[in-house]
Amino acid sequence: MLKEKANIAVMVSGGGTNLQALIDAQNSGILHSGQIVLVVASNPNAYALTRAADNGIESVVMEDEASLIPILQERDIDLIVLAGFLKILSPDFIRQYPDRIINIHPALIPSFCGKGCYGLHVHEKALDYGVKVTGATVHYVNEIPDGGRIISQKAVEVQEGDTPEILQRRVMEQAEWILLPRATEDISAEIVKGTKA
Ligand code: GRF
Repeated sequence: MLKEKANIAVMVSGGGTNLQALIDAQNSGILHSGQIVLVVASNPNAYALTRAADNGIESVVMEDEASLIPILQERDIDLIVLAGFLKILSPDFIRQYPDRIINIHPALIPSFCGKGCYGLHVHEKALDYGVKVTGATVHYVNEIPDGGRIISQKAVEVQEGDTPEILQRRVMEQAEWILLPRATEDISAEIVKGTKA
């Protein structure tokens, strides 16, 4: 039996600005084929947990994958969105959700991705390299960090005088916070229509 809305779990580790973009998209109607029913944090201090609480969304701090799986199953989760989530999920966990886990990476994959490329480090590497254009990528998660099939990308200009912090903010505002809600809605729509493999 098809559902009205896909049940979405958002996995976080830090400030949760991408979670906030998803919450805002849900409130504005951009995200209407799915609903965020759970936020999973990798650590208890993630400000993303406060954002979840402020919006009446259930949250858990994950102990380990084994204890997380039943929590996701109890809530009949259809789609897992990694939003600033910093742990590497095991191949076993990923296999439980084939083509149902997506991630936002703050660069144009295959640039500046893989081991050690997370958070501010990504923008430090982009500036060190001297690229004129960077951006963000939404991709499916497979067992290779940042290796899954690309869903969408958006380019962002690097400007004179950019620091990693300034560039990170521009990539968030002009790319991440636009791409992730749109991809989440598109995939949720496929799920509820029954057209998602
Ligand atoms: C940021 O570096 C963002 O670019 C990346 O994960 C980090 C934290 O994001 N996607 P968030 O504010 O916790 O969503």
